[in-house]
Amino acid sequence: LSLAALSGVAAACGSRSGERLEPPPGAVMSTPLFVPPLLAPPLDGDGARHFELAMQTGRTVILPGQQTPTWGFNGAFLGPTLRAGRGDVIRMTVRNGLPEASTVHWHGIRVPAAMDGGPHQLIQPGAVWNPAWTLDQPATTAWYHPHPHGTTAQHVYRGLAGLFIVDDAEDHGLPAAYGVDDVPLVLQDKEFAADGSFSGDPLRGIYGILGDHMLVNGVWNPRFDVTTQRVRLRILNGAQARMFNLTFADRRRFHVVGNDGGLLGAPVEVDQLVLTPGERAEVVVGFAPGDDVVLRTLDNGVDLAKGDFDLVRFVAATGLKPSPALPAHPATLPAIVPPAGARLRTFALGGRDSINGRPMDMDRIDEVVPAGAVEIWEVDGSGFAHNFHIHEVAFQVLDVNGAAPPAHASGHKDTVYVPVRSKVRLAVQFGRDTDPSSPYMYHCHILRHEDAGMMGQFVIVEPGTESQVPHTLSGRP
Ligand code: C2O
Ligand code: CU
Ligand code: CU
Repeated sequence: LSLAALSGVAAACGSRSGERLEPPPGAVMSTPLFVPPLLAPPLDGDGARHFELAMQTGRTVILPGQQTPTWGFNGAFLGPTLRAGRGDVIRMTVRNGLPEASTVHWHGIRVPAAMDGGPHQLIQPGAVWNPAWTLDQPATTAWYHPHPHGTTAQHVYRGLAGLFIVDDAEDHGLPAAYGVDDVPLVLQDKEFAADGSFSGDPLRGIYGILGDHMLVNGVWNPRFDVTTQRVRLRILNGAQARMFNLTFADRRRFHVVGNDGGLLGAPVEVDQLVLTPGERAEVVVGFAPGDDVVLRTLDNGVDLAKGDFDLVRFVAATGLKPSPALPAHPATLPAIVPPAGARLRTFALGGRDSINGRPMDMDRIDEVVPAGAVEIWEVDGSGFAHNFHIHEVAFQVLDVNGAAPPAHASGHKDTVYVPVRSKVRLAVQFGRDTDPSSPYMYHCHILRHEDAGMMGQFVIVEPGTESQVPHTLSGRP
């Protein structure tokens, strides 16, 4: 028997016994990239945009020939891309068709606390939740995902996540044909059991799951066909713990044009970009006719970035349609500048489950913030890698271990990487919606850490009333 025949026999045995089939080398990255459908409802009779989201269970073919049990919004896996404009009145109808209670949090969307979809806004199985608010923030790429305390990691891992695009009235000069030259990339890593189901305990070990299969928009080994000279990518790290250290196989340079909280004042050219869970970036990549290049994540020595993996292959047509020139100023957002004497709060991340020595307590209000404040929040890392996300706010990174952040990460953000044993200082702009009885969250967005208790709660109150606010929820009239 030839070697080829032997390996053929081995492959056939493997498939009969239900083992996972690895693709033959060289035959990879040919599945068309799925682009989540847009959900952009027209204005209804009340002048509002009414979104309907159904959380449901289902099955999805991710690995060839295998069905993976998955959860999704309005479908079996992941969710549609929600899209609305600044000034729109948003009305949501969220139905929980799951076998357990969950929530839906609008990560990066600035909403009143009772609409935020954090752990306090539980939706029981079969129940419906109807948050509403007026969208008022600059154009950005946000996202939505469950946030039930203790099970966020599991619910996101099973597939509940989608993008939420905010438009505003400005012309940003960027490619804008959704799915053509304005393309979402939801990056997630998974581990599969022999039967095709997602495996691994999201609460295990130090960081939870660092999977060995990279999915982009739910697709393993995808290919995207490029038809224009430039493509804008809206990239979300939707992973449990993994840091994506993004680079193209040919090291081509690209431009970062936006961070979590909005577009940058000027594009920043890079050949590599790091995103930790929850962070987003908008980038513009140029292509030449016939290009065939893979976007990869490379191990950079950080525990969270373990392994080198291909993510998505871009194949450019032989004739490319012209794209707009790279804009000199994608947007002009006001700098977030702490006033002299700004309040400083310090958050020491502890191990993998606490902040300032205390694990999350649903009943405890940790911080009381006056409406409209700009404060300095200092986040102190531990011996493990973390990141830090604050609900409701926009912040700018003042410094990391005393050094200014790189230009590409200097814009408005809501989530930031906190390297091992480092100190990150943020200038945080809080909103004006007050509600002393509905807390917002701040937490590490490594979902294993968040679920284990590396999370705290703050309320926003009328300036001058801070000292009257009780520090528990249960002890209130
Ligand atoms: Cu993306 Cu509190 O979460
Ligand atoms: Cu959030
Ligand atoms: Cu952490």
